[in-house]
Amino acid sequence: MALTTLIKALPKAELHLHIEGTLSPALMWELAQKHGIKLPFSSVCEIETAYQFSDLQSFLDLYYAGADVLRSEEDFYQLMQAYLQRCKEHNIVHTEIMFDPQTHTHRGVPFDVFMTGFVRAIDEAQEEWGVSVRLIMSFLRHLSEADAITTLQDAEPWYDIIDAVGLDSSELGNPPEKFERVFNQARTLGFKVVAHAGEEGPPDYIWQAINLLNIDRIDHGVRCAEDKELMALIKHRQIPLTVCPLSNLKLKVIEDMATHNILELLEDGLLVTVNSDDPTYFGGFLNDNFAVLESALGMNEQQCRQLVKNSFMASFLDDTEKQAWIQKVDAI
Ligand code: HPA
Ligand code: ZN
Repeated sequence: MALTTLIKALPKAELHLHIEGTLSPALMWELAQKHGIKLPFSSVCEIETAYQFSDLQSFLDLYYAGADVLRSEEDFYQLMQAYLQRCKEHNIVHTEIMFDPQTHTHRGVPFDVFMTGFVRAIDEAQEEWGVSVRLIMSFLRHLSEADAITTLQDAEPWYDIIDAVGLDSSELGNPPEKFERVFNQARTLGFKVVAHAGEEGPPDYIWQAINLLNIDRIDHGVRCAEDKELMALIKHRQIPLTVCPLSNLKLKVIEDMATHNILELLEDGLLVTVNSDDPTYFGGFLNDNFAVLESALGMNEQQCRQLVKNSFMASFLDDTEKQAWIQKVDAI
């Protein structure tokens, strides 16, 4: 079987995906028309060509501007529904989805509006084809810790359907230590915790995420390779890294896909996984991220299977569910 066929055939989990980063230019255009919002673009095509970034911040500026078209419950429903449809096409059977409440509450869109829309789409997809979904509420690290604490409190009516909290947005200048208290509170409340670290930020931010935030997983983390002691710890504890190849290329974390270190990390025994991050902004959903590892790095079948098994191992599913999916992967 050709590797691209195998990639498609294997059931997979996706663990690093921002729902706001799945907004397609077509839906952005449609919602702007619907709400009478003036976009700084004159066509869907112009939106697409604007998706060229020089670093994380240049992407975030566009990403937050794009999210402004999301206003009503129906908008959030459509957004989630479209991503879960992609999951079906890409054979993503389990997905742990990040959402950024502050991106919406700060524009006057309350929790009830986006959560109700998300839940309606998730319930429908679960009923239709059985996809399994967890939600990760991410705090924006360019805002204050006090704002994150308020957000954690405001989310209380939705605690039952939120599995984890995360940390995203502008990394440089906003180290994990800034959020130590809110992460402690979240842990005490029983949430799993993840954090973006070592995407643009130095290895020290990964140390902080591990030692101060007690994270269960690191989002990105590719810069751990600059610190041998850190690599050894991540390997020893099998702390998962949710790596996003196309994102790293688009945001110039790497210069060229041929220099990506994901397969080296894998061969060194780290629990690395493949993910799409913000697929409509970075030019590919999950299977496209796998495909580029074959075309640019020569990923072989054994590595591909290991990355897919890692996606379940690194997930928040329970051990029985993890083993059941891994057996299914082995049977293909
Ligand atoms: N990094 C930080 N914040 C983000 C990202 C990312 O890759 N995507 C969406 N928010
Ligand atoms: Zn991300």
